Amino acid sequence: MKVVGGSASVCLAKEIVQELSAGQVDVTFERHPGGFPDGERYVRLLGSVAGQHVVLVQTTHPDSMIVEFFLLADAIRDAGAARLTAVVPYYGYGRQDKRFLDGEAISAKTLAKYIAVDCDELLTMTIHNPEILKTFPIPASEVSGMRAIGRYLKSAKVDFLLAPDDNAIRFAKEASAIANIPWDHLQKERVDSYTVRMMPKKLNVKGKSVAIVDDVISTGGTIATAAKELRSQGARRVIAACVHGLFVDNAGGNLKDCDDVIATDTIQSPHTKVSVAPEFAAAIRALG
Ligand code: R5P
Repeated sequence: MKVVGGSASVCLAKEIVQELSAGQVDVTFERHPGGFPDGERYVRLLGSVAGQHVVLVQTTHPDSMIVEFFLLADAIRDAGAARLTAVVPYYGYGRQDKRFLDGEAISAKTLAKYIAVDCDELLTMTIHNPEILKTFPIPASEVSGMRAIGRYLKSAKVDFLLAPDDNAIRFAKEASAIANIPWDHLQKERVDSYTVRMMPKKLNVKGKSVAIVDDVISTGGTIATAAKELRSQGARRVIAACVHGLFVDNAGGNLKDCDDVIATDTIQSPHTKVSVAPEFAAAIRALG
């Protein structure tokens, strides 16, 4: 087996190589120092993959990483790989999972269609809506990132977990089972891309160290609103924990009232504190 890491996932790919004791094929991402002046991507495989089972690890965020994914998958096929497994740690464009208005593209399905051109199967992590996986023309499954978060929180002196909305209940439940910490949830109403409202609810958090757990932190608006609610109900310490840390726009400002922010390496950021390589390695082994 050979592992190829796209430039969005170089560190995680290396960790997966170690977990699997697999071979790694390095990639050159720039033909000339500084890359193409117009920002277009370039890839070159620096080792052989002919006849091999290849695992391509690449998060599809930001947009240019999608192009890179397709370039790598095509190059791997042209180089004669026998089998290509796509590991997409964060499935960027996965949140538009249905047509809300006539004429919209269902971006989660669009990506699925084109990933299947060169790949034989897909593994992704903690996806916004697992139903998306059914739209893949190839076998596609979700690996949980909450196991890694649960492992981390177990030793982080946390007394209570909070799901900031209904969608996050399954994440809080899973982290709670691993870390053995009680949980509760809030109900969220999204006003616009930057603003959310939480329905009032009494939480048992007075004097406690609380971790808000979610799949994604994007603008940090959800976390900021939940953290404010926790502080107003007497929480002593507030931690934000997510699998995918996008941290866009004013996320830094929105997260400033959190005592700590924890994310995994599905997206590399200064808040990456835990690796999901053991989870992906186990899932790759289980593919057979
Ligand atoms: C929504 O259902 C997701 O689980 C996250 O809560 C959301 O993507 C977070 O976005 P933001 O950080 O912009 O509030």
